[in-house]
Amino acid sequence: MSKYEFYQQGSFINGKWKTGKDTFKVTNPSTGETITELYEVSLKDVELSIQSAAVAQKNWAQKTAEQRSKILRRWAELMFAYQDELALILTKEQGKPLNEAKGEIAYGASYLEWFSEEARRIYGDTIPSGNIDRRIVTIKQPVGVVTAITPWNFPNAMIARKAAAALAAGCTFIVKPASQTPLSALAMATLATDAGVPAGVFNVIVGTTARAIGDLLTTHPKIAKFSFTGSTETGKTLTKQCASTVKKVSMELGGNAPFIVFDDADIESAVHGAIISKFRNAGQTCVCTNRILVSNNISAEFTEKFVKAVADLQVGDGQQQGTDIGPLIDSKAKMNITALIKKSLSLGASIAAGSIDENSDDLFLQPIVLNNVTNDMPIAREEVFGPVAPIITFDSEDEAIELANDTDVGLAAYFYSRDIGRVWRVAEQLEFGMVGINEGIISNAAAPFGGIKQSGNGREGSKYGLDDYLEIKYMCMGGL
Ligand code: SIN
Repeated sequence: MSKYEFYQQGSFINGKWKTGKDTFKVTNPSTGETITELYEVSLKDVELSIQSAAVAQKNWAQKTAEQRSKILRRWAELMFAYQDELALILTKEQGKPLNEAKGEIAYGASYLEWFSEEARRIYGDTIPSGNIDRRIVTIKQPVGVVTAITPWNFPNAMIARKAAAALAAGCTFIVKPASQTPLSALAMATLATDAGVPAGVFNVIVGTTARAIGDLLTTHPKIAKFSFTGSTETGKTLTKQCASTVKKVSMELGGNAPFIVFDDADIESAVHGAIISKFRNAGQTCVCTNRILVSNNISAEFTEKFVKAVADLQVGDGQQQGTDIGPLIDSKAKMNITALIKKSLSLGASIAAGSIDENSDDLFLQPIVLNNVTNDMPIAREEVFGPVAPIITFDSEDEAIELANDTDVGLAAYFYSRDIGRVWRVAEQLEFGMVGINEGIISNAAAPFGGIKQSGNGREGSKYGLDDYLEIKYMCMGGL
């Protein structure tokens, strides 16, 4: 029995739990059952969260870096200590297998740990001056109040990645988690309080009125920075809204990751990498492999081995032992993915493994491998966000690079090759913010996570992850 009450009823604002009038249901996508009902945050309470975060920010920024560091570390330790309880909440509301959920809690905690260390390394500069009687000095200061909207696919880690950097820098933070998965965010608030995060520094507002809440979080003059993880389409709208008060903006948007297998690759290892990269979280991650590009010389061997590995994957309730692939988040997602598959089949793609079961009304989708796919088919052009692996073949290195780069987005890309010259050539030419070379999983708190092109801007995690939460102040000291 845990000493904490993780299942709260409403938003967490200025250190207090808020109830209200209207409620919304949080359901388990594996079973369709209601887990709990939460109170919708009112716009009045969103305003209260902004006002109190602005007041709290002044005191939080006055703490020493060491004090902030210790609190973040304690928060990370609590997340590790309650990993099992947090993972169960996550699996219930999001659907991913329990082991993956445990991995996500450790992943989220690793950002708190990382930024507890980075908090002590916010250095300024002295710059040689052109005038003998002047000195040029820079210091870094927190931007102020930060707001964030986070997605349902990583209900813990996407909050931890943003909040850890914000708090380390001396900012206060208000997050609106996806309405499908608010419970993990509320559980994080419980632990934050016990770790010593002061009232008003970390706030969670929950509700289904995303548009109205989003409008306030992106236009309020007291908010200095807005951070979003989600679709490119929504990111563009939110970026426009942020322009009205010239906020700093970080956008971690959609991807369309190519996974290239060259003919000199270790095929077993490429199959393993493709399986974990494609089917992590049922294919519902921004960095998931979206298209597998395979050299024609080895496509038969790769496809045979890949199809065999796919056949071993168990689809089911994330709470059941042995499940590899949980449900999709909702019926709309299942409908969209099915439509993409059917459209591509009508254009000449064929099914190499799996099938679509249109009669079932649950949210499970068996993994499907498609071959005879071309890069212009909807299944290759759209971000699929599901367990579908389209295979496209190519004849040369140049063609592989051209196919890989032929997309408006540029988050993650992967390739397998043992030729060191090719490794450098291809890695440098891929137009993506992150490249996995002989690796299918690249996420890590020490590494900069982010994309180019329409995949967004800013970097999260790593030594660069603090930059978005800091302003550089130049001080010119004269009359010396
Ligand atoms: C995402 O899908 O947005 C995040 C995935 C990750 O951090 O690995």
